[in-house]
Amino acid sequence: MSQSDPSQYTWAGRFSEPTSELVKRYTASVCFDQRMWRQDIRASLAHATMLARQGIISAADLADIERGMKQVADEIASGVFVWSVDLEDVHLNIEKRLTTLIGDAGKRLHTGRSRNDQVATDIRLFLRDAIDGVDALLGEFQSRLLDLAEREAATPLPGFTHLQVAQPVTLGHHLLAYVEMARRDAERFADCRRRTNRLPLGAAALAGTTYPIDRQYVAELLGFDAVCGNSLDAVSDRDFAIEFCAASALLMMHLSRLSEELVLWMNPRFGFITLADRFCTGSSIMPQKRNPDVPELARGKTGRVFGHLVGLLTLMKGQPLAYNKDNQEDKEPLFDAIDTVTDTLRIFIEMIPGITANAESMRSALRQGFATATDLADYLTRKGLPFRDAHEAVGQAVRRAEERGTDLAQLSLAELRQFSPLIDDDVFAVLTVEGSLAARDHHGATAPRQVRAAIARARSPT
Ligand code: ARG
Repeated sequence: MSQSDPSQYTWAGRFSEPTSELVKRYTASVCFDQRMWRQDIRASLAHATMLARQGIISAADLADIERGMKQVADEIASGVFVWSVDLEDVHLNIEKRLTTLIGDAGKRLHTGRSRNDQVATDIRLFLRDAIDGVDALLGEFQSRLLDLAEREAATPLPGFTHLQVAQPVTLGHHLLAYVEMARRDAERFADCRRRTNRLPLGAAALAGTTYPIDRQYVAELLGFDAVCGNSLDAVSDRDFAIEFCAASALLMMHLSRLSEELVLWMNPRFGFITLADRFCTGSSIMPQKRNPDVPELARGKTGRVFGHLVGLLTLMKGQPLAYNKDNQEDKEPLFDAIDTVTDTLRIFIEMIPGITANAESMRSALRQGFATATDLADYLTRKGLPFRDAHEAVGQAVRRAEERGTDLAQLSLAELRQFSPLIDDDVFAVLTVEGSLAARDHHGATAPRQVRAAIARARSPT
């Protein structure tokens, strides 16, 4: 960052002394808002095009602005542009350089505009692109999950409630639960995009402008669906940033739950999965270690996104209309939320194909947990026993099997009949994991053929 001549300050006319160095540094945003330079230039060009079309600036001025902005963009892209904290933010830095390059036409660019509507426009353009990026990544994330779910459509896994073995499910079915979550996430981002994609420019500082501007034309040039309806709201609304953080918080919460399962499943006591070496890290002291750092860190990064949501809500709650400098604090949380969800989705997209399921460990956990006990109770109910009595009888059978250190299916028919005379040798089909899975054969349930049908539905565009 460089410093420039104090007499060059944008608002020097009104002041008798230059801004203190400390205040300049405290109030500057250029170190983080320079990320929006492409959006700033794009919005300025649309604004200038409209000004020329309305006869507010001349065609020659517009030509100069276009030529100058092209050079500014080249300088920024190639890294030779000198950003200055004296010029506070991305908007003033670009405008100043433009004016240095082309003279008076550069000074006319800001006609009928304020940084208040300019910054709101830039953030919306920036966020719109970010949402499109997240949407594409969410699609890829789902397709990686679907590939793995298809491979493991019939692989039995102990389904848990209270983290205790409950009933068999397939690993495919389990993974499809995360596909559902991701679909809802995508809906939320699409919904947020609709409200983001409205044009604040033209609101000027807060009240609109005295120039005969054409906001609808600017909206069309920039691909906005509509124009913001109230100038005070246009410059001060940051709902879209909060909505993005809310959608991101939910997405991260989902990724965090998946991370937690991966971490747990990698523990040798579970041993349900292994993660490819390229996604694990070692320990500097314990040579045997193979740590799931990536899902752990994803789980950890969830916290900062929740924090950004609360931070932005808090930023907005006390602000009177219209623009206040507080709003400058919207960018860092928003950018960090964008970066965090983008990076986390990217890493999951790479990591999921590196997951290997260990069918034997999952099956042995099922055996130890008497996962087909409900199937036995349902069997007795089908034979006429009231469900509560069946529950009681099976509870006793489980206790017996536990004392013996065996699975329910390993008890003999004679032993099983001690708990209910309704039990016949057709019971063993019910006690197997495969029988249990296949019996849950309706929309949304875990039977492998239902899992395959759900995968097909998720893959076919609706
Ligand atoms: N850097 C400012 C921001 O990020 C731009 C708008 C400043 N407007 C103003 N009146 N100071 O919000």
